[in-house]
Amino acid sequence: MSLIAAIDQGTTSTRIIVFDGSFNVVASAQLEHRQITPKPGWVEHNPLEIIEVIGRLQEMIAEKLQAQGLSLSQIAGVGITNQRETTVVWDRFTGRPLHNAVVWLDTRTHETMAKLARTCSKDAFREKTGLPIASYFSGLKLRWLIDNVPAVREAARDGRCLFGTIDTWLIWTLTGGPEGGVHVTDVTNASRTMIFNIHTLQWDEEICRQLEIPMGVLPQVRSSSEVYGRFAQGPFKGIPIAGCLGDQQSALVGQKAFTCGEAKNTYGTGCFLLMNMGERPMTSKHGLLTTVAYKLGPHAPVHYAFEGSVAIAGAAVKWLGDNMGLIPSPRDIGPLASSVPDTGGVYFVPAFSGLFAPRWREDARGLVIGMSQFTTKAHVARAVEEAICFQTREVLEAMEQDSGVKLRLLRVDGGASEDGFLMQWQADLLGTQVVRPACVETTAMGTAFAAALATGFCTSTADIETRTASHLAQRFTPAITEKVRERAWRCWNRAVERSIGWLDL
Ligand code: G3P
Repeated sequence: MSLIAAIDQGTTSTRIIVFDGSFNVVASAQLEHRQITPKPGWVEHNPLEIIEVIGRLQEMIAEKLQAQGLSLSQIAGVGITNQRETTVVWDRFTGRPLHNAVVWLDTRTHETMAKLARTCSKDAFREKTGLPIASYFSGLKLRWLIDNVPAVREAARDGRCLFGTIDTWLIWTLTGGPEGGVHVTDVTNASRTMIFNIHTLQWDEEICRQLEIPMGVLPQVRSSSEVYGRFAQGPFKGIPIAGCLGDQQSALVGQKAFTCGEAKNTYGTGCFLLMNMGERPMTSKHGLLTTVAYKLGPHAPVHYAFEGSVAIAGAAVKWLGDNMGLIPSPRDIGPLASSVPDTGGVYFVPAFSGLFAPRWREDARGLVIGMSQFTTKAHVARAVEEAICFQTREVLEAMEQDSGVKLRLLRVDGGASEDGFLMQWQADLLGTQVVRPACVETTAMGTAFAAALATGFCTSTADIETRTASHLAQRFTPAITEKVRERAWRCWNRAVERSIGWLDL
């Protein structure tokens, strides 16, 4: 067996990537799926469409391997990595979803939250789960589905309902669905539900009782690196599924940030900055989450991470093109933004789903401020790019305060990190070096590492380090003065203050 593969099921698209023994990409295929937005603030995916997309991707990969004289039979195992928190419920006997998946960005649980807020504080579950009470996490989404969708309520009552985040839905379906599908999740995905105790690594009975979540719907929680089952059909039939990590944790592993204090920032739909905090979980005092980083094997130790989650990053760039028509495609933003020397005083706060870390304000909404007759679309494009970096600085500062670690460099990855202008501004604004690997597919690489360890393709993390030692990286060095940096920072903070409280909740 000379190949290892990953399925990266993200918010807007899914890819399958096949790596060789040195973790160079041998073949990759990517397809988008629909974003269903029935009401403002609501975002759904069709779980069956995602499965169908994965079927087509397997075929595309088979063809690409064949064209190189390679074959699927050389794949030792497949790791799964996924958009986290997105909530799926389905019927265990028919395998049919009982509702569209409620996506992590969806804010429909405001009322469920308000109800809960009358009985407990926002931090009531933080000690056990590492998370504040927020619409982001799966627990409230599941509660909403039980409360508002009769088919879900009835199936839960009759013992027919299964719940899962996207990893669980994929593993169950791909390993056979109603005919022998394995109902599991891994510790990293479980740690995003707000009903999982990150100390005992079990579902928390007390919180489930409080949220009235029937524990019979929950999957079994496993490590991030073990054989969960095998593909039951399709081109990948028989290949073991041997890795499972939430996408942000997977990127941390893919960046080989195995040492306490190492951090990475992934620029995808949102921005997610994670710092490895070792084997002892700490609680944030500055609005960060404590999350399970990885557990690379049933008997391996669990590692935790601080996480600063920013809801809207690449999504703002997509919005600028798709909704506003200001750029033909996301890759056009860099050249447009860099065509002006600054934003001309324009600031953009992309609080489309409220503000996540470190502020956690559901009542914030997006704004553009500082415009004049001088303002052009290039200034707005630049303000969108800068907003992504300002948000990263907010979480980085919170992380340094919580951890006591001053970051000397920030490792970056994800699709938007390919934008050199964005990365340079990130280094400028942080006053810290930014390091981008030659292959920014670290999310897929992380779960491929997990699958490699579980199948014996690699023997240890040291073996992985050796195999990937020749991978190149590019460094971005800060190039603006402290005065310019701090002035921009002050203006950004003033703009954010104005976005807060816009929604009267
Ligand atoms: O927590 C949400 C995150 O996992 C989504 O990541 O890259 O699919 O936008 P991405």
